This record gives sequence, C-alpha cells and structure tokens, in this order.
Amino acid sequence: MPEDLILAIDQGTSSTKCLLVDRSGAVVRAGSAPVGIRYPRPGWVEQDADDILDSVSRAAAECLDGVALDTVVAVGLSTQRESAVVWDRHTGRPAGPVLGWQDQRAQAFCDELRAGGHDGPVRAVSGLPLDPMFSAAKLRWLLERAPDAAVGTIDAWLLYALTGEHRIEVGNASRTQLLDVHSASWSSDLLDLFGIPASALPEIVASAGDLGTIGKHGGILAGLPITAVLGDSHAALYAHGPRAADGVKVTYGTGSSVMRLLPDTAPDPGEDVCVTVAWGDPGARLAAEGNIRSSGATITWLADLLDTTPERVAALAATASSDGVQLVPAFGGLAAPWWDDTATGTITGLTFGAGAAQLARAAIESIAHQVTDVVDAIGSAGCLLADGGASGNDQLMQIQADLAGVPVRRARTANLSALGAAHLAGRAAGLWLAGAPSTGVAYDDFAPRDGTAAAELRSGWRQAVARASTPSAHHLGS
Ligand code: G3P
Repeated sequence: MPEDLILAIDQGTSSTKCLLVDRSGAVVRAGSAPVGIRYPRPGWVEQDADDILDSVSRAAAECLDGVALDTVVAVGLSTQRESAVVWDRHTGRPAGPVLGWQDQRAQAFCDELRAGGHDGPVRAVSGLPLDPMFSAAKLRWLLERAPDAAVGTIDAWLLYALTGEHRIEVGNASRTQLLDVHSASWSSDLLDLFGIPASALPEIVASAGDLGTIGKHGGILAGLPITAVLGDSHAALYAHGPRAADGVKVTYGTGSSVMRLLPDTAPDPGEDVCVTVAWGDPGARLAAEGNIRSSGATITWLADLLDTTPERVAALAATASSDGVQLVPAFGGLAAPWWDDTATGTITGLTFGAGAAQLARAAIESIAHQVTDVVDAIGSAGCLLADGGASGNDQLMQIQADLAGVPVRRARTANLSALGAAHLAGRAAGLWLAGAPSTGVAYDDFAPRDGTAAAELRSGWRQAVARASTPSAHHLGS
C-alpha cells in the first residue's frame, strides 16, 4: 500500500462512502455504509444524527481495513447539505431528529415570511429564496423544542462529534439561509428573522486548512487531521477541476443540482437561481445553483407505478419516443427556476396510443427538460459536466445534449464528491505543493443533434409546465 494517503468521507442522504486516494490521485480503496431515513408524516423527512456518525465510522473502517493507519495523512469530508441537526451543548448528544433537506415541515413559516414581504430582502442577503429546503426554518423548528441546544448542518455535526469543535464550513453555511453570502458571515438580520440565537450557531471556517484533529471518539480515525470540508455538490464541482471554469456542472441524483462558478466581476446570476458559496479558501468563491427536486426520483416513482424497476423503465424509454406525452414531476412543487410550491405533478398529451413506453420516455425527458430550464436561467454554457447516478444512462445524456443544445461531458469516474474532497484535503495537507495531480476524471462526450426536434419538445414542455403551475403561484422572477 502506498504512503501519503488521503481519506475522503462523503456523507450523503442514503449512505456514507469513503475513498482512499494516493499521491498520484488514484483511488486505491473504497468503503460504504447505508444511512437510515424515515418519513413520519407527509412532507417530513428525518434521519438520526448518531446513525449518520456511525455510518461514517463503518464506511471508514471498511475502507481502511488492512491499511497501516500511519500512511493516512489527512481526511477530507463532503456532506449532504441543508439538513438541520440539533444537539445538547453540554453532553454532545443529539437533542432531536435530523430534519433532512427534503423536509417541508417549515413550509408554513416560509409562507408567512413571504406574505410579510421578506422574500426579496432574504434573497438579497442569503442568495437563496425562502424555502423550507434551506436549514434556517428547520433550525427554528428544532430550537423551539430544544431552546438551549447547539445547532448545525451535517458537516458541523460531524466536525463537532469528531473533533469537539463547533464549526461549520462556509459553503455549507451558505445553504443555511442565515449567512450573508457577500460577506461570508452570519447575518444578524436573518438570525433575528428566523429567531436563531447567534450563540447556538457554529463558528464559520474556510473549506480547507486545519479544521481540527479527530479525537478518541473517532475510533479508527483518532489522531487524523481534517483538512477539507465541502458540501457534496460543491465537492463534485471542485473535482471537475479547471473544466469547471467554463462549464455548468449537473449532478443527477434523486434530485439534481445544476451549478456554475460565478466570475468575481459578475456575482449576480439573476433572480431565478441561488447564489451559493462554492468554497472558501479562504476568500469565498461564489457559484450560481439551481436545485431540481425530482430527477432519479421520477424514474423510481414510475417504476413503482408500473410495478417494475428503474432499470426496466430506462430500457422501456429507449424503445419509443414520447409522442407528445409530457410528464412534469412537480411531486413536491417545482424548485428552480420556477419556485412554485403549489405546482402539482402533471401528465399531458395522453392519447389511446400512449403506453408505458411513452410515459417512460417522458419521465427521462423530464429530467433533461428541468436541467435545461436551469441552464437557460444560469446563462449559456460551453458544455455541461455531468456526474451522479443517473448520468450513467446514455440515453438521458444524449437527450440532455439535444435539449440543452450544448455538448454534455459525462464523468466516467464514480463519486466525484469524495474525489473533490480528497483533492482539496491533499492540497491543504501540503501533499501536492508542487502542483496537484489532475483529479483524473475521464469523460464520455455527447454532442447535440437535430435542433428542430428539440425545439418541439421544449415547446411542449413549457406548455405542460404552465398546466402544472398555479397561475397565481409565487415565482421568483415575477
Ligand atoms: O442539497 C442536498 C444535497 O446536498 C444532497 O445530496 O447526494 O445526499 O442526495 P445527496
């Protein structure tokens, strides 16, 4: 086993994955462990802070099995974002459930704030529209039930549990809706608005550097320094390396994250997408991001409906065109760039000739349509840099290139989030002072084809979205 290894820990919604990366940038080992999730009521999504911590230990143990621990020089961490955690500041024990990023229990409070005219001012400071996905309203809900507790996001919880320091990485902090995204510090106005005491919040730290040493509670990881922390979507963007400068990154997962680095000279991407801190190293690098709530989840939903598997749905979609059928997967409303919480899932264009294959094809197309909507809002891109589970589907990648009208470069490497965290951690640990190796991402290329067919599909999609939306619904751009 080579020396000077970096352990990357990618803590995601459904599992924790670990990679061990050597000095050349090659992945030499991997490990993973599942994480539980529960849906106690419609719209509620909960996880368990101890279970998340335990999954980190289990994934790391699998990855490091048989590895001499003194060959590991640093740890990089990437995490699911926005999920809200609360713990007792004296005992360090969780003081409530983790409210997952998809949890919508704070919707009514966000509606109240919006009715009070706060949406514009909140967006101007935080870069984010009022939405229960972001941590602030969820932290309020948790603190109402545990008023003296310490709070954070998943990265903050893991940093606290592993190192004993109450800290949050600046990119993750920018997803709380409590950060002034322009000064990269907590906004006292936003803290007041959401009723969050400053004393409950972690200290904001840069994405790379000395972020703490893992204590004895870290088991096998004890004694290792953490030198990088990133939000998972941000870490994937980082892994694309210099290509990220002129492309738009799309992570295709349960939902999708579409992200583009913003030039320092033009930090405002327009009203329909979010402004986020990609990383702070230590100066904050801003990115535009649009989140899509249902991508892979649409295929899973259709697979359940047809009593089959997502793989069969994908195979079915390859056998037909959508023949005028459009599926708008607004199962939980529509996020960027529509921001319409009242939009409902809608299928249009059904005829007697429409069957499961047309529905399957429309479901696959809906993923590419939504990404194209966000890309249109973010601004034209030289190419799309695709990663994430559903990007493995060649048909989706080709449809994406056709509908967006730009080349799609699909990363062949799995788990770019862990890879990005490993590379930033290695750099911060001084491993690659003479120039970091390339992150080694290889790509498959998909060139756009017939523009006329794509234009017809796009026009049908826009009509279907109009039908799914409520005319009076809130829309950021309106
Ligand atoms: O914004 C939520 C996102 O960070 C979750 O990522 O990979 O756990 O689905 P993932």
